[in-house]
Amino acid sequence: MHANEELGHADLIAERIVQLGGEPDFSPDSLTSRSHAEYVAADSLVDMIKEDLIAERIAIDSYREMIQYLSDQDPTTRRMLEGILAMEEEHADELSDLLNDLPLVLKEKKVAAK
Ligand SMILES: [Fe+2]
Ligand SMILES: [Fe+2]
Repeated sequence: MHANEELGHADLIAERIVQLGGEPDFSPDSLTSRSHAEYVAADSLVDMIKEDLIAERIAIDSYREMIQYLSDQDPTTRRMLEGILAMEEEHADELSDLLNDLPLVLKEKKVAAK
């Protein structure tokens, strides 16, 4: 659902790392060990959305920490992270709205199927 935006975040961050003279590490084998959120397999739609919401909240905390850490040392990177943080907060809002509305959506589906 938010996958394109997440890819956009990865691109922005990679671009900034290159601008700062670093080398972004895209290797999938070390990605899980470096990730702040852990991957959990969910077997129901509700559980899946709950896990997504937890991951968004972990991302929000991580971006907040990075922004605090940067403080005024690197305003460009900070602005970028603040933009990403705002989007992650929207994701979390959308997912929690979805969770709240879900029983209703499922009920409506049943009615529509009759
Ligand atoms: Fe993201
Ligand atoms: Fe997100």
